Amino acid sequence: MLVGMDHIGIAVKDLDEAISVYRDTLGFKIEAVHVLKERQLKVAFVSVGGETRIELLEPLDRESSVAKFLETRGEGIHHTAVRVKGIDRMLEDLKAKGVRLVDEQPRTGAEGARIAFVHPKSTHGVLLELVEKP
Ligand code: CO
Repeated sequence: MLVGMDHIGIAVKDLDEAISVYRDTLGFKIEAVHVLKERQLKVAFVSVGGETRIELLEPLDRESSVAKFLETRGEGIHHTAVRVKGIDRMLEDLKAKGVRLVDEQPRTGAEGARIAFVHPKSTHGVLLELVEKP
């Protein structure tokens, strides 16, 4: 079940520099910065007022998927993320419909959320993240 928009992920080359632009120039509030070891990412969640946030992502490793994204496409929107309830059931349903999934099982994302990615080939070109908050 869909609950709402959770965040928009933006791939950046230098997180500190991006934080400074979003905070100091654009006037947004940085809510949290996390290192996601498993995904080789450093991320910052930027508040834009409501429940939807912006997630700035900097790769910590050249082999990570975000590093490859930056190499081929440059900085910009990397994924959209919708908040859901019942992520396991949703993944089963999507798989049954032939949707191409990056993650067939949810994994742990930032802030203890359970997340799974749907391949851009099945979403008209933008990686889609499903997020279930604890
Ligand atoms: Co995300």
